[in-house]
Amino acid sequence: MMDRSVVIVKPDGLQRGVVGEIIHRLERKGLRLCGVKMIALSDALLDEWYAHHKDKPFFPGLKSYMKSYPVVAMLWEGVDGVATIRKIIGVTKGRDAEPGTVRGDFAMSQQYNLIHASENAEIAKREIELMFAEDEIFEWDKLDLKHIYTDEELR
Ligand code: CMP
Repeated sequence: MMDRSVVIVKPDGLQRGVVGEIIHRLERKGLRLCGVKMIALSDALLDEWYAHHKDKPFFPGLKSYMKSYPVVAMLWEGVDGVATIRKIIGVTKGRDAEPGTVRGDFAMSQQYNLIHASENAEIAKREIELMFAEDEIFEWDKLDLKHIYTDEELR
């Protein structure tokens, strides 16, 4: 089933110059880009976004890091897109992440791990509502889909 994931290139990703690299990896995989924007994250949005981390000791640091520079927020879609993108980005701590993943190839830190992607379909739904207005989400015919998936996979 097609699903959508919110991917954020975090402030360290912007500084490290990996925005293009990340887009390239997701694009060449066959995922469809449905939205993209640069945004400065607000306290209110971060409080909602990371509500499940609000009692963690790293929460204040996480918030100030996510506000330190703008981020690039994107919406990507594919069959099992949420799970596929989690695999592409790798585990949280950069130095534990498998080579070949975004974090495995470009990150060392647990906090400065370059990229966010929705954890599961339910969280993705909430994140899409928080991050994108309706007119920031684009439906477009990706003409090579029939070469990326079989007809059964697209059904
Ligand atoms: P992510 O898993 O995308 O979402 C939560 C973020 O909090 C995580 O990426 C890291 O950027 C950060 N984070 C997670 N664990 C820690 C930690 N132990 N110390 C500092 N930052 C963390």
